Amino acid sequence: MDRMANLPMDSVPSPVSSDALSSPDDDNWKLESMTFPEQFAWGSATAAYQIEGGWDADGKGPSVWDTFTHQGGDRVFKNQTGVYYYDKVIDGLLSIAVTPVVTLYHFDLPQHLEDQGGWRSDATVEAFNTYAQFCFKTFGDRVKLWITINEPYVVAVYGYEKGVIAPGIAMPGVGAYLAAHNMIKAHAAAWHSYSRLFREKQGGLVSIALNSDWAEPFNPNSLADQEAAKRHIAFCLDWFATPIFLSGDYPAVMKSKISAACKRQGSLSSRLPEFTDQEKMMIKGTADFFSLNYYTTRKIKHQDHEISQPSMSADKEAEQVIDPSWPVATGSSWLAVVPWGLRRLLKYIKDTYSHPIIYITENGFSQCDPAPIDDAQRWEYFRLTLQEILKAIYTDGVQVKGYFVWSLLDNFEWICGYSSRFGLFHVDFENSALPRVPYKSAFEYAKIIANKGLMKPPR
Ligand code: GAL
Repeated sequence: MDRMANLPMDSVPSPVSSDALSSPDDDNWKLESMTFPEQFAWGSATAAYQIEGGWDADGKGPSVWDTFTHQGGDRVFKNQTGVYYYDKVIDGLLSIAVTPVVTLYHFDLPQHLEDQGGWRSDATVEAFNTYAQFCFKTFGDRVKLWITINEPYVVAVYGYEKGVIAPGIAMPGVGAYLAAHNMIKAHAAAWHSYSRLFREKQGGLVSIALNSDWAEPFNPNSLADQEAAKRHIAFCLDWFATPIFLSGDYPAVMKSKISAACKRQGSLSSRLPEFTDQEKMMIKGTADFFSLNYYTTRKIKHQDHEISQPSMSADKEAEQVIDPSWPVATGSSWLAVVPWGLRRLLKYIKDTYSHPIIYITENGFSQCDPAPIDDAQRWEYFRLTLQEILKAIYTDGVQVKGYFVWSLLDNFEWICGYSSRFGLFHVDFENSALPRVPYKSAFEYAKIIANKGLMKPPR
C-alpha cells in the first residue's frame, strides 16, 4: 500500500457499489445470527503521539516526529511525570474493567537516538531493550499484553526508504532493510528480557504489531502475477513474520530477489543484511501471539526490473494497483475498502505461521473533514469486516481472539494532520476544549460488543 501518499480527494473513486464489497468466497450461513466467541476481546487503539499533545511538557524530550513536523519536542523513560501519567492511564482503564494492551514504540523514536543513526544503528537495539525492561518493570504488574514495535514495515519503508515520514531519510534499497534488521533484533531482545526477568512473576504475553495488505494477482491466470502477489506479502508481512515466527531468518524469496538485483547492479554482496547463526536462534520464536494490523488489499502485477537503481520496489519486481470497483475511505486515498481481503490474510497467517492466536490490533476507515456524525457508510464497512472475521473464525478455523478499531478518537494522522478522521469519537480540533461526540459507529460498535454478534444491516 502506498499509505503515506494521500492523493487529492477529487482523484478518489466515488462510493460505493455493494457488489464491490461482497465477498467472492462462498458462504451461505446466516452471519447476522452468529456470535463471536465468549472470550473475544473488543477494543479500540490509539497511539501516544497521535493523541497526547504536550510535546514539550514536563521534561519530555523531542522525538523524530516532533522534528519532522517542525514543532519541537515529545517523551516516559527516566521521566517521573511520564511514569505518573501512564500509571494513571493504566489504573483508570483497569478500574473500569478495560484491559490495557501497551505498545512500547509507535513511530516516535527519541530524536537523540535518531541523531546517532536511529534504527540504522545497532546501538538502538540495546537502547530499546533497556527502555522495554524499564516499562516491564514499572507497569508489568498491571499490563499483561505487550507489543514491542508498531508496524516496523511502515517505519522502515516510509521512514528510511522513501523518507516521507519521520525521520525522513530516503536511502532507497538500503535504509529500510537496515532499519528492519535492527527493529527485529530490538524486538527479539525485548522479548527475551521479558522471558528472563519478568515472565514468571508477571505472566504476560509479548508480540510485535505487523501490518499487511492482502494481495491478489492482477491477472489470476498469470503465473508471473501470482508469484508477484506472493512477493508483495513476502516483502511486507513475511519480512518480519518469517524470522520471528518461523526460522530466525528472512523469507527465501526476499534473499534471492535482493541478491539477484544486487548482481544486476554490479555488486557481489547483497543489500539485505544477514543475521548471524546466533542472532537467528535469538530471533526465532519471539512472539506469544500474532498482532495484525489490516487496512487494505491490492492487485499485484509482475514488473521486470532488468537494470535499475537500487530500491525496494525494484527488488520486489511487483507493481500494486487498486481495483477501481473497490470503494475508497473518504479520508485516505490509499485505503481501498476490501473486507474479504482480511479473511484471506487471516487464513494465510493460519496456514503459514502454524495456526497462531491472532489479535487484529488495528483496522479502520477514515472520513475526510467535515466528517458526518451519522457515518452509516463507514459503519457498513466495519460491519462487513466483522462478518469476514466471523467467517475466518467459524469457516476457516482461524484463532482470532480480538479486534481493535483504529481509532478511539479522531487524531493526528501523521502527514495528513487532523483532516483524516479515523475516530469512533469526533473531536472538534478548532475548539481548545477539544469536545468529543460519538459517531454513529461508536454506538453500533457498542451494540456489537454487548451482543457479541452482528445485527442485520439497517433497511
Ligand atoms: C497505522 C498506524 C496508525 C494510524 C493508522 C491509520 O499504520 O499504526 O498510527 O495512523 O495506520 O493510517
